[in-house]
Amino acid sequence: MINKPNINHLSKPDTPFYYYNLDVLRETLDKLKTIREQYGFIIHYAIKANANSRILKLISSYGLGADCVSGNEILHALSNGFKSEDIVYAGVGKSDKEIDMALENDIGYFNCESLPEIEVINERAELKNTTARIALRVNPGIKANTHHYITTGVEENKFGINKSDLIQVIHACKALKNIDLQGLHVHIGSQIQDIDVFKSLCLRVNELQETFRKEGVHVSYLNLGGGLGINYDSPEQYPFSDFSSYFRVFGKFINHISNQHIHFELGRSIVGQCGYLVARVLYVKEGQHTKFAVVDAGMTELIRPALYQVTHKIVNLSSNKQFEKYDVVGPICESSDYFGKKVKLSKVSRGDRLLIYSTGAYGEVMRSNYNLREHVKSYYSDDFHG
Ligand code: LLP
Repeated sequence: MINKPNINHLSKPDTPFYYYNLDVLRETLDKLKTIREQYGFIIHYAIKANANSRILKLISSYGLGADCVSGNEILHALSNGFKSEDIVYAGVGKSDKEIDMALENDIGYFNCESLPEIEVINERAELKNTTARIALRVNPGIKANTHHYITTGVEENKFGINKSDLIQVIHACKALKNIDLQGLHVHIGSQIQDIDVFKSLCLRVNELQETFRKEGVHVSYLNLGGGLGINYDSPEQYPFSDFSSYFRVFGKFINHISNQHIHFELGRSIVGQCGYLVARVLYVKEGQHTKFAVVDAGMTELIRPALYQVTHKIVNLSSNKQFEKYDVVGPICESSDYFGKKVKLSKVSRGDRLLIYSTGAYGEVMRSNYNLREHVKSYYSDDFHG
């Protein structure tokens, strides 16, 4: 099965390390290419999910655009093959310096999150004697049914413009000479597995488009965000997200007006399943009721379990003895530093290698050097022979 990494590749490098199976990524990108041809949708890759140059170069070679949330992400996208006109830039806190850089590089669109931000973009654009193409990121008020830290589309969170303020903001934009309001942007959260949520989003977006129309603004750029989830429980069985159902919903329910390009910005569903974290067992520690497998990777390499209390599939690569239950924990001085509780693993001994699945998105990119940990290394399937 394609999502099973080659064990030989995982047995030699010093641990801990990330391993990327580029065949999984290629196959994912092939699927997206088909969708693009079928619906004419424009797909941006959300760089925040994984900013590894090898990954970015492969993605840009398939002609995807980039979705960036900082000046450095924009520069990194440009140096890894993305074209400036295919870059969109979101974020609640764009600094003046970042805005200037984005204007100088003439990126595709600013996805704007508040009127004060738009006013600053207008000022900076005026100083440069240019115009900024912008979209309004509106909170559609749709609950994403996902972890509360990664829900963004409801009112009273820091992202986006509330529906109730929309008309006022559209009016304000019209009065700004260096702002060219061309579109609407929504993003309601991440790791969304319930496709019906996206249907509700479409219906709400249609209403929002109607508001723009009534205010005399043509939505030529409609950005529907990202958020499609992956299967963390059975990554080998489901190595690809259900792109067909996802895009079918938008194809069916979005009111596609003339002269309009429909954009998406997907992160996790593009890179999530191509990445693995490999850790080595340092000690097996017997607690009173719990066996701990203490490994050499921690929340500094993969923070998702500690931050969102989520689990990634883990297997013991070095043993096929009978299963026992372990708490798999890291070496960092925090109780939240664990990868899984009561995980069934083939009997674990010191030196065994554990494989942690589905870490291609929001894994390596969220690393830190807390406890002065070293920068985790990465390896790519293409670099191994046999
Ligand atoms: N567009 C915007 C405006 C976003 O904020 C995000 C993700 C995306 C697109 C891409 O969403 P995706 O397709 O990857 O779901 N660190 C968390 C996820 C944070 C998501 C942040 N925004 C995690 O590990 O689950």
